[in-house]
Amino acid sequence: MPKRIVIAIDGPASSGKGTVARAVARSLGFAYIDTGAMYRCVALLASRAGLSLSDADGLSQLTDRLRFEFVWLGGMLSIVVNGEDLSDAIRFESVGRGASNVAVHAQVRSALVLRQRAMADEGGVVMDGRDIGSVVLPDAALKIYLDASVDVRAKRRHQELIQKGQSIPLETIRAQVSERDQQDRERTESPLVQVDDAVYLDTSALSPQQAAQIIIDLAWERA
Ligand code: CDP
Repeated sequence: MPKRIVIAIDGPASSGKGTVARAVARSLGFAYIDTGAMYRCVALLASRAGLSLSDADGLSQLTDRLRFEFVWLGGMLSIVVNGEDLSDAIRFESVGRGASNVAVHAQVRSALVLRQRAMADEGGVVMDGRDIGSVVLPDAALKIYLDASVDVRAKRRHQELIQKGQSIPLETIRAQVSERDQQDRERTESPLVQVDDAVYLDTSALSPQQAAQIIIDLAWERA
């Protein structure tokens, strides 16, 4: 096992971050933290509470009351918030869009970033998101910017949703993915960027295993 370094993986929607990051973490015996899931949970719980996703104060008060845990349940990594497993409920594209809307607020971001840093405190962590290498863990020993063409990413999301029993036309998904990317790249607070010291990895023609292996090899080099 390499030294318990911290690995930051950023990239646009459906670039394969989750699958690849999980495979890397498993292979290295590291923890995996899906920060997108945290934004998704805030969006879902805000909607349930009837809060507007533009109400920055209300959202930040809600976020302050949340306790996040990543736990292995029946072989799957689940996100449990205040004792409730929200893993399935957040995997709708509508919740992804909601996440992108709550993620524009500085107060929400700073509350989540504090928790994310605490989770990476002891090292041995793979964390993925949009601002991990740039803001959350700027000292990470290894930073990856995972990318893929928008067509490939839309197809991946389409397949993923079909497996979950949600059938949305591919063209609609493509439009939603592009729109969300644009919002994530153009926002003022911690936009999605490729930092100078990140390794760029295009996964369009790679399997998740191939992409994971490249990152694992880099992790051994850096450790
Ligand atoms: O799974 P997918 O790549 O579609 O998205 P996600 O990683 O679950 O993230 C959902 C949304 O949360 C993104 O579109 C971002 O707006 C936001 N997010 C963020 O702003 N910062 C992060 N570190 C992670 C997610």
